[in-house]
Amino acid sequence: MRLKIVGSAAGGGFPQWNCNYRLSRAARAGAAGISQRTQSSLAASADGRDWVLFNASPDIRQQIAQTSELEPSAAAPPRSTPIRAVVLTNGDVDHVAGLLTLRERQPFAIYAATQVLAVLEANSIFNVLDPAIVPRRVLPPEGELKICDANGRKTGVTIESFAVPGKVALYLEDSALPEADFSSDKGDTIGVRITSDKGGGSVFYIPGCARIDAVLRSRLDGAACLLFDGTVYTDDEMIAAGVGEKTGARMGHLAMSGETGSIARLAGAEIGRRIFVHINNTNPVLDENSSEHAVVRASGWEVADDGMEIEL
Ligand code: MLT
Ligand code: MN
Repeated sequence: MRLKIVGSAAGGGFPQWNCNYRLSRAARAGAAGISQRTQSSLAASADGRDWVLFNASPDIRQQIAQTSELEPSAAAPPRSTPIRAVVLTNGDVDHVAGLLTLRERQPFAIYAATQVLAVLEANSIFNVLDPAIVPRRVLPPEGELKICDANGRKTGVTIESFAVPGKVALYLEDSALPEADFSSDKGDTIGVRITSDKGGGSVFYIPGCARIDAVLRSRLDGAACLLFDGTVYTDDEMIAAGVGEKTGARMGHLAMSGETGSIARLAGAEIGRRIFVHINNTNPVLDENSSEHAVVRASGWEVADDGMEIEL
């Protein structure tokens, strides 16, 4: 199986359009050891020809232009794409807005949990993707599914979806419920285990996750590769940076550091490669020369950047 990290940043990208924090400034200036990144997306292929996209980011046009595997091949018809399906892991803007760019009556299939399909249904702008051409299919809350193209032809990619602790998209939050549970696992955010019919082990893709409990930890045990929520390094980092009032936990994102952070919670787990994705523009690990980056690397983790390839 081939995997490509199409976009490694969290919502907003890196640099974010209105962010004047030191990291976004350094990224704009082209500082050494600080690479610009587009918003959260992953591509997987069993045969290197047909691709399944996980999340459709607002940067998708740029991402396709930077990823030759996702462009129409020379021998293909005048309108064509190797993207056979798009799997959505939640309804966040950084994961669904790119669907609008994929209009043009081009067949592919959309897979998402019922909650996320309800968002597409409720917002008629998504009808630019005519369901007769771009079928919408339900991802079960738990279970395995062979990902097929619009015509039902298998892509060779199989996923197992499962709910992870998280929350509804920001624009769906009920302001009357300020104390709502932002680490519930009702299926608003899912994780996926991806395998190929060509073998090669399994990869977990979990770009959003509020908590690693015993169930999730044992599920991840034995994976060849884990791509995990790397939004923030410390829970209060956005507040400390002066860019927002929310903690990572309030946004449904588990911090990398700390006793309950992802690095500590997964220490000792049997996982081949562990790679942080969905990295926010306040996260100091974006600077390869930072002490936090060194801690992450010394703990056995990698920090994704755009275009990173993984072969299993
Ligand atoms: C998130 O991951 O928390 C969201 O993408 C935030 C957002 O909507 O910008
Ligand atoms: Mn996000």
